[in-house]
Amino acid sequence: MSILEPNLSIPFNITRLSHVVLTSRDLDKTRYFYETGLGFEVTQHDDSMLCLRAIEETGHHSLVFEKTEVVGPGVVRRIGYRMFSDDDLKRAHEFFNARGDKAEFVTRPYQGLTLQLTDGVGVPIEFCATMDQSENRMQRFHTHAGGKLAFLDHIQIACHDVAGAYQWYNDLGFRLTEYTAKDGTNEMWGVWLKRKNNTQDVVFGNGPGPRLHHFAYHTPEISSIIHAADVMASLGLADTMDRAPGRHGIGNAFFIYFCDPDGHRIEIFSSHYNVIDIDHAPKRWELSDTRRSQLWGFPAPKKWFMEASEFEGVPVQAPLMDAAPVTLEDFLASW
Ligand SMILES: [Fe+2]
Repeated sequence: MSILEPNLSIPFNITRLSHVVLTSRDLDKTRYFYETGLGFEVTQHDDSMLCLRAIEETGHHSLVFEKTEVVGPGVVRRIGYRMFSDDDLKRAHEFFNARGDKAEFVTRPYQGLTLQLTDGVGVPIEFCATMDQSENRMQRFHTHAGGKLAFLDHIQIACHDVAGAYQWYNDLGFRLTEYTAKDGTNEMWGVWLKRKNNTQDVVFGNGPGPRLHHFAYHTPEISSIIHAADVMASLGLADTMDRAPGRHGIGNAFFIYFCDPDGHRIEIFSSHYNVIDIDHAPKRWELSDTRRSQLWGFPAPKKWFMEASEFEGVPVQAPLMDAAPVTLEDFLASW
């Protein structure tokens, strides 16, 4: 699949990734991990729900955990995006239903008008334009703790049909900023897609899916990423570090990954870059190039590539493309 022409004439305006809704078996344990460990702000916590947000966020939530009694790894209930206005949502409602995507308005706590549907690869998504607002913690510096997280930036989804996802989101005006191709071909192994002014709102990478590989929060300073690791270690949570700090070639992000008590993976990162101009050409990476995932040369462990959170009730399908990335285990075996 070649690079698609950006779609500049869509009848509604998706502005950014907004929120992620996941399940947790123990909301107190989850709160400890995210609030005491990583420094999130709690905006709601009762028997059924835990809502969290980061330092610069004025909306009620960017991360929601709903209590589950189901034994086993946590699942993902939905991915939320923002549109610019309620009029955009109404035009999107017409657009989706006219082309056969069943979209319906639903009621969500703390959110305004919300439109729900399933994307082209089976991911449950929703759009809203407004959310309850309150003053953020940006200048309450004494509350900045853990990873000093600023805002939810992007998600990555393990996807059985990366080309199909690219086409579906390109139709909605998402633009490609970087991509990984199966070596020497035009087959897309991974696509980095964005609506806001940086490299990504959503990433699709080849693998059994759809499953949520991770959600990612931005922090302005690399030192905060190291501090987060120190804080988690001092709390006895060092074993939740899923991937040690490093720098992605793709997107230039300095990263660290943790897995929460229900197995959901969070990335804390810094240092990616602006993509605004319409003539910004997508950057290509070959799948075999290990600098893609780790600019310093050491690829990610196999479990980082393979483990992800399933979407509730959504069957996981085998990937259409047979192409495995180079893992740390492969790399060490070649020494
Ligand atoms: Fe990421």
